[in-house]
Amino acid sequence: MFDLVQLQRFGLDRSRLPPGSIIINEPPTWVAVNRRQIWVAAGVTGGVLAGLAALALHIQLRRRAEAGRYALEEKLREHQKLESMGIMAGGIAHDFNNLLMNVLGNASLARTDVPPDSTAARCLQDIEKVGRQAATLTQQLLAYSGHGKLATEPLDLSKLIATMAPLMERAISKKARLHLALSPGLPRIDGDAAQLRQVVMNLVANASEAVEGGGRPSGEIRLGTGVTMLEPGSVTVPKLDNLPAAQTCVYIEVVDDGVGIPAKDLPRIFDPFFTSKRTGRGLGLAAVLGIVRGHGGVLQVHSREGHGARFRVLLPPAAASETEPTAADEGSPDPARDRRGSGTVVVIDDEESVRNVCTAILHRAGFSVLTARSGPDGIELLRRSPPGVRAVLLNLTMPEMSVAAALAEIARIAPGVPVVLSSGFGRVDTTTGLSPDRYAGFIQKPYTPDGLIRELHRVLDAAFG
Ligand SMILES: Nc1ncnc2c1ncn2[C@@H]1O[C@H](COP(=O)(O)OP(=O)(O)O)[C@@H](O)[C@H]1O
Ligand SMILES: [Mg+2]
Repeated sequence: MFDLVQLQRFGLDRSRLPPGSIIINEPPTWVAVNRRQIWVAAGVTGGVLAGLAALALHIQLRRRAEAGRYALEEKLREHQKLESMGIMAGGIAHDFNNLLMNVLGNASLARTDVPPDSTAARCLQDIEKVGRQAATLTQQLLAYSGHGKLATEPLDLSKLIATMAPLMERAISKKARLHLALSPGLPRIDGDAAQLRQVVMNLVANASEAVEGGGRPSGEIRLGTGVTMLEPGSVTVPKLDNLPAAQTCVYIEVVDDGVGIPAKDLPRIFDPFFTSKRTGRGLGLAAVLGIVRGHGGVLQVHSREGHGARFRVLLPPAAASETEPTAADEGSPDPARDRRGSGTVVVIDDEESVRNVCTAILHRAGFSVLTARSGPDGIELLRRSPPGVRAVLLNLTMPEMSVAAALAEIARIAPGVPVVLSSGFGRVDTTTGLSPDRYAGFIQKPYTPDGLIRELHRVLDAAFG
């Protein structure tokens, strides 16, 4: 065993030592020292890097979670806003429809009593005209509330729009030129033709007004249809919750080169009563939104102030079906109008003014009338009344008794007597859970005398031939 430090002091080289000698006290070499330091340094650096990476990952995950939570909260907020505003809009529309029933019904009845060329006749005509305009507004409100729904059928959007073209040409600004780009052979969608027409009309009206307000001598509106992929992450209204991302959709697109929408207005344009126009009502886009939601679709808007706007309505295609689309039925000429009625009609409605105006309309058309102010009263009346009741006009939403229960009772006491439902809300929608074979007809308030009598004769013809 040799002490290397001592050996070096005596000038001896370790190569001279006999083989198998053990050397102790070897001074540390540079490499040996540095290897240890390198290991330590590497260890420390690795630790720091791993720590940093972990920290970065942590921050990223947290950001992502926060973004996710924010998106979810925003979706929830939007959902709640739509729900509560929808309920309010539906309520207002319902009440106004009952009031308008009275205004329109009475004006129309009174007009038949005065000489056609009298001042009174002209005043009454004005009342009816304004009443109808008000009814259009409540119709938009109903559409926003989602109550306007829904008589769906398989539809080809291109064909639907093609039939509207002449009407739109006449309705738009003289400054605007309308170009149609309708793709042939679109997949069908399950839609309510009347409501989808309303969507197209509202978007085209806005485009026309945007061109008109643009200050240039003329402008263009492009109205197109097609098939597209819904890109995940694209901005949609309402937030994508019904359409799976990356789904193939059918779209309607309205593009204009008018005034465009300032960034600050964009989040509000679908709110009911938001308008930037002097005489605007702010209900067009709200109605579009309600209808598109009701159809399980979404909207996309691209616009910059001064650079026009593009609105896209994306709708899911119908589940594969072989059915030919039914021709969207435009009101056919009605021979029922001048027919005389006979027999008794029972009117069940909780609004006194509606009962009164209905009675007057039905009397004038030749029917006898019995009225009741609630479901139970109506049932009692049917039970006591002599045979000869030919039809029942039943208001859809009333206190005291659900319409399903009322229909069941009527079917039991007066089997075979057809029931026409009427409502200040929209059609008998899914919320009532009524299947169409439970009632014979439906009429939307406010209805005109002609409208009521036409529907009644249709139902009576179907029931009694
Ligand atoms: N094509 C468009 N170009 C520019 N602005 C538009 C367009 N469509 C809608 N807007 C904006 O959205 C608002 C709301 O539209 P809408 O609900 O139809 O109500 P109204 O047309 O009665 O104002 C408009 O007042 C306008 O500011
Ligand atoms: Mg509008």
